Amino acid sequence: MTVFDQPYPGSPEAARTTGLDSSPFEGSPEVLDALPPLTEQTRAEAREIIARYPQPRSALLPMLHLVQSYQGYVSPQGLTFCAEELGLTTAEVAAVATFYTMYKRRPTGRHLVSVCTNTLCAVLGGQRIFDALKADLGVGHDETAADGSVTLEHAECLAACDYAPVVTVDYEFYDQQDVESARELVAALRRGEKPLPTRGAPLTDFKGISRQLAGFDQYGDEAAARAAVDHPGNYGPTLAGVRLAEERGEVAPPMPRRTPPELEPDAGEPRATTRPTGRTGETPEKEAGDARVAAADTPAEKAGTARTHPDEGSEYGRGRPQKQPRGGTDTPAGTEPGTSGQGPGDGKA
Ligand code: FES
Repeated sequence: MTVFDQPYPGSPEAARTTGLDSSPFEGSPEVLDALPPLTEQTRAEAREIIARYPQPRSALLPMLHLVQSYQGYVSPQGLTFCAEELGLTTAEVAAVATFYTMYKRRPTGRHLVSVCTNTLCAVLGGQRIFDALKADLGVGHDETAADGSVTLEHAECLAACDYAPVVTVDYEFYDQQDVESARELVAALRRGEKPLPTRGAPLTDFKGISRQLAGFDQYGDEAAARAAVDHPGNYGPTLAGVRLAEERGEVAPPMPRRTPPELEPDAGEPRATTRPTGRTGETPEKEAGDARVAAADTPAEKAGTARTHPDEGSEYGRGRPQKQPRGGTDTPAGTEPGTSGQGPGDGKA
């Protein structure tokens, strides 16, 4: 095959080959007519999110989750809504929404089932699980079963390789699956059941987890959140190495202790590396920082190099926000978005 025979980027053929999604946001009249509306309540919640950040545009990611919590995906209306509230263009919002796979371009089913087919999970059966679910549901990647119960997707590493092969439902973990257990899990979801995840919080549904990712808590108080999330676990494969080391009496070598600068023998004396070089009157560290900033080509590179400049926070740095974000995330400790799957649990659902 020559380069001229290959599918061009963005074509359906290329998407099938590369797995990259170049499809637009679903906007057909039949789908849009059936969508729950974005209401004044949505707008009020969006403004609550915006108030958490020093800059409104920083609220875009949770706002996209908020839109998904109402409509099940990022609809064209949702794109416009975020752009209006944040003072962005719809192109800017779409650029972000198409970058992250957690933002969906078509309505999702009640549950989102993600099968890790990355290296370790694939080797241990992840691809077989995905193929079996595909056959059972009659759908392909990023497609929804005809009854609307489940959207299936294959996922890159879900950061739980020690529990491979891993399946998540609405981002909650079901560890060490095999073809049969995964098929039973999906069959239960289609019956309307919510099997308990192996660890982390109880299962909700795609809209429910989207609401949590937007920073709105589903629990009445912190105690209820802790009870739901921090159930006891045996720490399974994560601690296998530690247990083996205990059995063998092995310990890690001690970390070298660093003496605090104020206790060093020459404390109070100017340190050699902080003396001006005589060329610019600046220290070598500042000269090197100046050079990195001067060599940066783009605004993004300049911002990055400025952050490592010794004068970070002054003319080179981005400065630190003086004001604390109002209200925080409203999410009790242990239930912050993206952390719910990190505490190992006590076995399979
Ligand atoms: S490869 Fe599947 S969780 Fe890492």
